[in-house]
Amino acid sequence: MRMKCFAAAMMCAATLTVTARDIERPTMGWSSWNTYYIDINDSLIMSQADAMVRLGLKDVGFKYVNIDDGYFGGRDEATGRLLIHPTRFPKGLKPVVAYIHSLGLKSGIYSDAGANTCGNYWNDDTIAQNVGLLGHEQQDMDMFFKELGCDFIKVDFCGADGYSNHPHYSFEPQDRYAVIHNAIVNTGRDDVRLNICRWNYPGTWVSDVATSWRISEDIRDNWNSVKNIIAQSLYLSAYAGDGHYNDMDMLEVGRSMTPTEDETHFGMWCIMASPLLIGCDMTTLKPETHKLLTNTEIIALNQDPLGLQAYVASTDGKTYVLVKDIEEAYGKTRAIALYNPTDEPQEITVDMEDLDLGGKVKMRDLMNRKDAGTVEGKWSETVKPHGVRLYRLEADKRMERKVYEGETAYLSAYQEIYNPMALGTGTYVPDPICSGGVKATNLGIRPGNDLRWKNVYSEKGGRYTMTVDCLTTDKGRMIVSVNGAPGQVLEFDGNKDGITSVPVTIDLKPGENEIRLYNDRYRMPDIDRMTLSPAV
Ligand code: GLA
Repeated sequence: MRMKCFAAAMMCAATLTVTARDIERPTMGWSSWNTYYIDINDSLIMSQADAMVRLGLKDVGFKYVNIDDGYFGGRDEATGRLLIHPTRFPKGLKPVVAYIHSLGLKSGIYSDAGANTCGNYWNDDTIAQNVGLLGHEQQDMDMFFKELGCDFIKVDFCGADGYSNHPHYSFEPQDRYAVIHNAIVNTGRDDVRLNICRWNYPGTWVSDVATSWRISEDIRDNWNSVKNIIAQSLYLSAYAGDGHYNDMDMLEVGRSMTPTEDETHFGMWCIMASPLLIGCDMTTLKPETHKLLTNTEIIALNQDPLGLQAYVASTDGKTYVLVKDIEEAYGKTRAIALYNPTDEPQEITVDMEDLDLGGKVKMRDLMNRKDAGTVEGKWSETVKPHGVRLYRLEADKRMERKVYEGETAYLSAYQEIYNPMALGTGTYVPDPICSGGVKATNLGIRPGNDLRWKNVYSEKGGRYTMTVDCLTTDKGRMIVSVNGAPGQVLEFDGNKDGITSVPVTIDLKPGENEIRLYNDRYRMPDIDRMTLSPAV
């Protein structure tokens, strides 16, 4: 919650320098759901908290012990007070939360935006009816944060989604979460983390109210599930930042996947800056899982002070190279993942030019925690099926980025809850003609349905040629505006067979710039990418 204030202050700072900001990092901890579902109780939660400390997980950053669904005991009819399950938590939640805090850990709780929880509907937890926040927002938040002293809340949506509650209540997520956010603010606590659980990227409004938000349906303990969630998050990097994160769901490492799959799962959650909530039984943690979860070099990618999610720098359609700045924005240090989601070994070629790095590049293999030599230009490596290779790169030179793909841009009206075509909101779709195989589409027609590259960096500033590559069968037009200045109109001829490229001259200031493409009245051509080069 605190980030809102930070974000406002930092917006001004960002125009002066681009340095690491004092932002909150992705939440690290444990959650009860993946292993125990609603079968939880007080001694189980406390023994997990003990294990977190005993195994040194606390020392590497795991702090939050989150009680998910299953603790509810109905509601007092006379007072409306939320009751706690009489046999699972016979002494209530207070001693459990106090115990977690006594270990120097933080305590997380769970609720629902509607009247009942998901466990009530899907797991037949009959007692969990009328226990959601609907109509009890302030009363429950006061109990969670003032009385019990919890530090985190995940707010689910089954009770507010017509399909997953018995009365078939149906509410607009943005409205419900705004009320819930305000109730947290009214408690006077400014350090509470709100996690929104609406099972798809909810919309750009979400970073005003939440610290993190789920982007997918529930994770399962199998490779397909992990692979699908990574695929869903590949083009969401523009929506993470300033201490707000895409939540790829709780971890399934240490359960039934292979060691390679566990490494890929954890490694990708780290570089993609997802919250890291362990989901297995920590009291019986396997040695190899312990080794993975305490690999501080990989955790450092997740907890990096810049708080960035890696984006796709290149792909051959089957495998991906993801990259992000670490330690210093637009500096010489970057982290990369070579990700092979396929069932066969794949050779992945990395071109330093795609990573905006020049000269000799020192590489460190983060999974194996060892130096991996120096490369210049390109190199190739075979990556195991379902595997990932993670490196920290330190280059002689940082180059200015030349290629900005449409699929890495921020779409101001982006959301995944409703059909974007029906709602008229910009989205990303595969298109084999496009570089990267994906384009931004369905843009324009109304104000706010625009595309922005918010992180266009120019070291010295100056005049550039920006070439916009588009797809349009008829004549099309859009406006380009840099840093909010009056725009220039770009006209595109129709092209039934491929890409139309239109150059325009723009002026960038030194440091970070925002380039916006929009058309408030008509449908915009689809955007493949834009490229930048200094004007001669
Ligand atoms: C939903 C959420 C899960 C979990 C359960 C609890 O399915 O997505 O993560 O919290 O509800 O019932």
